[in-house]
Amino acid sequence: MSDYKDFEMPLAEAMTTQRAIRRLKPDPVDDALVLQLIELALKGPTAQNQQQWEFIVVKDPEVKRKLGRMNRIMWRLYRPFARRAARNDVKAEKLNRATEWGVEHFEDVPVYVVACFRGNRFAFPPVVAASTYGSIFPAVQNLLLAARAVGLGANINTMPLWSNFAARRILGLPFGLTPCVMIPLGWPIGRYGPTTRRPVGEVTSLDQYGNRAWQQA
Ligand SMILES: Cc1cc2nc3c(=O)[nH]c(=O)nc-3n(C[C@H](O)[C@H](O)[C@H](O)COP(=O)(O)O)c2cc1C
Repeated sequence: MSDYKDFEMPLAEAMTTQRAIRRLKPDPVDDALVLQLIELALKGPTAQNQQQWEFIVVKDPEVKRKLGRMNRIMWRLYRPFARRAARNDVKAEKLNRATEWGVEHFEDVPVYVVACFRGNRFAFPPVVAASTYGSIFPAVQNLLLAARAVGLGANINTMPLWSNFAARRILGLPFGLTPCVMIPLGWPIGRYGPTTRRPVGEVTSLDQYGNRAWQQA
C-alpha cells in the first residue's frame, strides 16, 4: 500500500524519544496516516503468526464520550492511590498531572486506535496471558514508534477498557474480540523528549537472577 518515506527517522532516535504524549491538539489526523501507522503495526510478530488482531479507529464524538466516561470512572477510583504513591516524588506528581489532563481532555483527542485480540481466552496460566497480550503489544509498540517518527503524539491507554463488557458494547465488538489497549493519536502540544528509565545494569542479571554483572558502582 504505502511508501514509508515520512517515517525515516533513525531507529535509536525514535526509540529513545518515544514517550507518553498526552497533551494533544484537537486538529484532525489524516485517515491515510492513521492507516499507515496501523499497517506498520501489523509488521509486528504474533504467536505462530496467527495475527489474531483487529483494530478499531475511533473518531465519533459519541463513542469517545462513552469511553471517556469509562476512563473517568477508573481514574477517580485509582487517583487516590496514585496521589498517595506520588507524595514527595516530583516526577510521579508530574505523571499524575499529565494523566489527569489526558482524562479531562479525553474527548478532544482527534483519533484513537483500539487494538483488540481475536479470542476470548482466560489469561491463565501465565504462558497463555503472555501469548495473548504478547501478540498485541509488539504491534502497539510499532505503532507508537511509527507515530514518533512522523511527529504524532501517542500513548498507551488501558483505563477506558477496564470493563471489557462495557467496552465491547460501546465499540460494537462481538464476544470473541477482546479490547486490549487504546492509543490516542494527535499532533502534540508540547515536545517529544528523552525518556527516564533505569540503567541497563540495574535490571539485568548474568545467568542467575541477582548477579548484576553490568551494574555500575
Ligand atoms: C500497559 C500500559 C497501560 C497504560 N495505561 C495508561 C492509561 O490508562 N492512561 C494513561 O494516561 N497512561 C497509561 N499508560 C502510559 C504510562 O503511564 C507511560 O507509558 C509511562 O508512564 C512511561 O511514560 P514515558 O514514556 O513518558 O516515560 C500505560 C502504559 C502501559 C505500558
